[in-house]
Amino acid sequence: MHKAEKIWLTLSFGMIIGFMLITGYQAFAKDMGPPSYGERIDPQNVDETAPFDNPGVKQIGENEYEVIMTLQIFSFTPNKIEVPAGSTVHFTMTSKDVTHGFQVADTNINAMVMPGYISKITQTFDEPGEYLVLCNEYCGSGHQLMGTTITVK
Ligand code: CUA
Repeated sequence: MHKAEKIWLTLSFGMIIGFMLITGYQAFAKDMGPPSYGERIDPQNVDETAPFDNPGVKQIGENEYEVIMTLQIFSFTPNKIEVPAGSTVHFTMTSKDVTHGFQVADTNINAMVMPGYISKITQTFDEPGEYLVLCNEYCGSGHQLMGTTITVK
């Protein structure tokens, strides 16, 4: 084997090992969860665990709303969210089965919702309209059907 070939082989294998070590360190040593929040929940008992035993939209201030939401194949609960324009909405979410996504078109909301974790995200909706909500993590055969809307009026 040519000497240059050996050098390049060594370098590329070294890089692969290096990347695997970094990924392994993040996944296992750092116990990597979703970046948005670190609160845990037992995914088997979501329906019995507050606040997810009572999902829905609640007004918590003059222009402030709280949305307690569960995600499951292939739906969002609550399925209809309606808030007045100018509202600040605090979403608290968890998954009852597999990893789902919570992406709201025309906003910066893009959260990964994993079983066992509670994801929190806050957004102010100034513009009235129908905001399309999509699951952007592949979650099974009905993934492309998993969507809902947030109505801001
Ligand atoms: Cu839920 Cu894709």
